[in-house]
Amino acid sequence: MPSDRLSTIPIVAVGEVPIKIAVLVSGSGSNLQAILDAAASDPGFPAQVVVVISDRPGVKALDRAEAVGVPGRVVAWGDFCGREEFTAAVCDEAKAHGAEALILAGFMRILSPEGMKRFPNRIVNVHPALLPAFPGTGAVAQAIAHGVKVSGLTVHFVDEQVDHGPIIAQRIVPVLPDDTEDTLHARIQAEEHDLYPQVVEALANGRLRVLGRTVTWEAAP
Ligand code: GRF
Repeated sequence: MPSDRLSTIPIVAVGEVPIKIAVLVSGSGSNLQAILDAAASDPGFPAQVVVVISDRPGVKALDRAEAVGVPGRVVAWGDFCGREEFTAAVCDEAKAHGAEALILAGFMRILSPEGMKRFPNRIVNVHPALLPAFPGTGAVAQAIAHGVKVSGLTVHFVDEQVDHGPIIAQRIVPVLPDDTEDTLHARIQAEEHDLYPQVVEALANGRLRVLGRTVTWEAAP
């Protein structure tokens, strides 16, 4: 395999943690809360949320940030001419706060490739389905409509395509006969809240390695 396909997250040296992360949101922010709670409950948690960036004002995620004294910023999609400008503004805001990684948590916008250039292998997303099944919006409803017996969630690196980058972790959630979109999504989210902080921890501790599409986890120290 050509060496340029081997991409690794550098091991973060002692003294460089916690790394600074920006969490990108569009709505409720329950995954943001899970990350904030993980950091608050563990003094050794290797990531610090330095800013929460929303593409829309007035969302609950911004209230969650304010409640713990984390700066919340709105980079409104409608204020920009297109994806390139919007992405540049999001990255500028994140960098202005010293962020070294972007953690997408219910963020409903697609970043342009410029984002991946500025945060290489440092943008992560959580999706409420077992990718590559049901990418895009309405994933939970799509899964129910398709009649699948199991669905779940995927945490993945973000690349130039929607819900497509290398998969970091997945969890299976059974679909029950009487599930609605809301009931299935609630069980998926409970798993997200457990898994996403673990991925952030592994990323921040430099324990994730990417070879082509395959992500491997190094053992915890
Ligand atoms: C999550 O279910 C996530 O998988 C999807 O959007 C939802 C965001 O929820 N991308 P929240 O804003 O973190 O509560």
